Amino acid sequence: MTIKIIGTGIGLPDKEVSNDELAALTGLDTSDEWIRTMTGIGYRRLCQTETLTDLSTTAARAALAEAELDGSQIDYLICSTVSPDTRTPSLACSVAERIKATCPAVDLNGACAGFIYAIDTAAALIAAGRAERILIVCSEKMSGLTDWTDRRTCVLFGDGSAACVVTAGNMLKYVHLQTQADSHVIRMDNGMGGNNPLARDQAPASFIHMEGQKVFKYAVNIIEAEVRRAFDVCDLTPESIDYYLLHQANLRIIDFAISRLKQPPEKFPTNIERFGNISSVSIPLLLHEMRQAGQVHPGDKFLLCAFGAGMTGGSAVLEWE
Ligand code: ACO
Repeated sequence: MTIKIIGTGIGLPDKEVSNDELAALTGLDTSDEWIRTMTGIGYRRLCQTETLTDLSTTAARAALAEAELDGSQIDYLICSTVSPDTRTPSLACSVAERIKATCPAVDLNGACAGFIYAIDTAAALIAAGRAERILIVCSEKMSGLTDWTDRRTCVLFGDGSAACVVTAGNMLKYVHLQTQADSHVIRMDNGMGGNNPLARDQAPASFIHMEGQKVFKYAVNIIEAEVRRAFDVCDLTPESIDYYLLHQANLRIIDFAISRLKQPPEKFPTNIERFGNISSVSIPLLLHEMRQAGQVHPGDKFLLCAFGAGMTGGSAVLEWE
């Protein structure tokens, strides 16, 4: 007995920004052609007046509605985020306030691999008998972390939220997490020194800094290693997986996986063209969209794989119930 997903939901900002609009808004020397060719991104949603708590609450309420539960019936709430509205209270506590949940509520920072980290945590809590109905909300407002004068990073990210409700079941067949610690390749300092008179030299708050080519190499290596490990441990073949839900960081990374696994591109659904990289939101957003489109059926096997700042990584095998 592991877990199953009994409800999904999303919350997205209203404003869609095309590559051309982004170039005009920022005045950067970039183009739709460069961004599409190098990343596969065409559009992203960006918050204007919406807070991350707003998006998260919308996603949470939709997932709860499908699960036919209200907030008071959830017994654990996990938010995956690197961009909460406030350092304290946590995003999870802010969402709990809105949905009237009184259970434990905590934020988890696994960066772009956060959904798989949250699934692992939820499975452990359920296996330990510590919770029965867990709400996972993955939410990012990357627009607030991005340096909008840096064309190497600001074209990549978007904002959004995706939630799911999990309970005991047999859907999760395998999960594996890892960290290959490297604190430089993707980094953002948070200026925690404040005005401490004993620590005046603390690094000031900064925007996301990323060494793109190193991240690219890490990503393709981890996807290959994680996928092969899942095949070995679960005695699976590439053909036996119906859908590969990969972190949506760059279409060229996904194309690499397609060529390595020699599987049809239809098995690799994407949403990066419409939403850019929304960190840990990307995979649960994909799953929700596939369900909405009627593409998910009992017995379908999914291999999820993500990598993120840290560097974190992970994979999971789900068989839909
Ligand atoms: N528009 C036009 N030109 C650009 C842009 C842009 N938006 N961005 C970079 N360039 C230029 C650079 O200035 C550089 O020009 P120069 O040689 O004259 O200085 C040239 O393009 C090549 O730049 P690189 O940064 O070397 O480009 P690269 O081939 O590495 O592609 C990219 C950049 C797309 C970011 C790539 O490195 C990548 O996708 N890496 C993976 C990043 C990733 O997955 N990030 C995810 C975020 S974190 C996470 O999700 C885990």
